[in-house]
Amino acid sequence: MKTWATLILSGLLLSTHASAGVLDEKGCGSCHRLNAEETENSFTAPALHYAGNKFQAEWLKQFLKNPEVIRPAGFITGPEFLQAKNLPPHPSFTEEDANALTENLMGLKISEPAAVASEPLSKGLRAKIKYQFERTFGCISCHQSLNLAGKIRGGISGPSLVNAGNRLQADWIADWLKSPGTYKVKGRMPRYKMDPTTLDQFTRFLMTLKKENIK
Ligand code: HEC
Ligand code: HEC
Repeated sequence: MKTWATLILSGLLLSTHASAGVLDEKGCGSCHRLNAEETENSFTAPALHYAGNKFQAEWLKQFLKNPEVIRPAGFITGPEFLQAKNLPPHPSFTEEDANALTENLMGLKISEPAAVASEPLSKGLRAKIKYQFERTFGCISCHQSLNLAGKIRGGISGPSLVNAGNRLQADWIADWLKSPGTYKVKGRMPRYKMDPTTLDQFTRFLMTLKKENIK
């Protein structure tokens, strides 16, 4: 079994240009991509070079203090997957370190997604999009989400979306659904051609998935 230390060491050899500051100091770049110039496939963990576009600062801070599992099947990039299954939990940090790391992460941006509406959907529209999420587009076969009773359900091959509304920025969700290639060249998620109205409604639907609603 590989330990974090050996993973970090082997990762350090891989990461030639890491970003400056506290992310560097804490060795984040040994597993995570922190720079657009680095190539997508050399990392054992999800890309963070657009963290400032993707995440809500408060969620990042909580995650770094108290990490949660986001990809229940593990982060699969190839042979690392089996090793990843034996990994101890994500490193965690004090309040002070988590604040400094969050500030740095929020500064990592690669795009300026257009602003989108994030106000909640009406009850009727929510039911309609939930149906499409499950049936029409089959998102639920890869992503965990919440049913009307607040129970977690869904597949585990993609990142969990049960708290997408706490974790992700609405503008980024819309941009990911519209142009995933901006963020990931070789993604495993199918590419959808949604009309602008559907895209807007899916974004607002995902923003209603919140940890407060988990029963
Ligand atoms: C040994 C490898 C390793 C190191 C070092 C590491 N991480 Fe991670 N990190 C991971 C893995 C693997 C995941 C995916 C966890 C999951 O999906 O459940 C992850 C997930 C994350 C996420 C959520 C990303 C997303 O897209 O869901 C953030 C934010 C994060 N790490 C920040 C950091 C920061 C900041 C540091 C440095 C202080 C760091 N990590 C150090 C392996 C690492
Ligand atoms: C075949 C499996 C699959 C289906 C179906 C699928 N996704 Fe994904 N999705 C993924 C994977 C895997 C990722 C992680 C990025 C990657 O590897 O492409 C992802 C990433 C995401 C993300 C970003 C989450 C994050 O934390 O990075 C969102 C939001 C998302 N999908 C929404 C949807 C929606 C909405 C649908 C339906 C319209 C959908 N997905 C259908 C597999 C899937």
